[in-house]
Amino acid sequence: MIVCKSAAEIEKMRQSGRVTRQVLTETAQLVRPGVTTLELDRFVERRLQEFGAQPAFKGYRGYPNCLCTSVNDEIVHGIPSHRRLREGDIVGLDLGVVIDGYYSDAALTVPVGEISESLKKLLQVTKESVALAIEEARLGHRVGDLSAAIQRHVERHGFSVVRDLCGHGIGRQLHEEPQVPNFGRPGHGPALKEGMVVAIEAMVNAGDYAMRVADDHWTALTVDGSYSAHFEDVVAVTRNGPEILTRI
Ligand code: MF3
Ligand code: CO
Repeated sequence: MIVCKSAAEIEKMRQSGRVTRQVLTETAQLVRPGVTTLELDRFVERRLQEFGAQPAFKGYRGYPNCLCTSVNDEIVHGIPSHRRLREGDIVGLDLGVVIDGYYSDAALTVPVGEISESLKKLLQVTKESVALAIEEARLGHRVGDLSAAIQRHVERHGFSVVRDLCGHGIGRQLHEEPQVPNFGRPGHGPALKEGMVVAIEAMVNAGDYAMRVADDHWTALTVDGSYSAHFEDVVAVTRNGPEILTRI
């Protein structure tokens, strides 16, 4: 069942999304060679307390931290650790927040120091693919229009979309219906209705799309060792078009 949100609920999700984006932006500014991913998680935990916001991921199915930190060939769900980021790495930062019972969820992938031109392209294309999907989040369109927009853009640039994980509805729960895959056919899937809110999250591998889960039971990695990028925003379908809720 897809739960549509009232204007009052969307306002709460806007507040939640604003905090997620603010803390994520501040955290991204701390990324540099030598910093550990656990230091980033500790910063997030402190900032969320200051905002009076609950972390959405900590304790979710036993996930141990506030932030997911996914480095290089890690696609998503990397667990913060004493690993030090190094010049030339890329790190995905994924954060979920609950305020007044409403969830928000956003991610971005940031360079550590100087990165190669090909990695810059991977980050840029992944980010662009989310923006293209957001543009499709309109009344009269279907979930497949969002999915196809991501897949088309990514594959045009020679990258691949992860098949095993997808975006999702969001609201009073972190994961609601509908699922929003990063591949699909235009005109297929559930119709978009006023008040639907979805987390669109592109997970893009530089190489093959095949994914495996590490021994920690969380970290999703590319099978071929190629690097992977992740960008995510929460978007409401309104009569005035798409509204991004995870913006400052
Ligand atoms: N953005 C991810 C998702 O929607 C992050 C979830 S991490 C978890 O699945 F720990 F909460 F699972
Ligand atoms: Co998500």
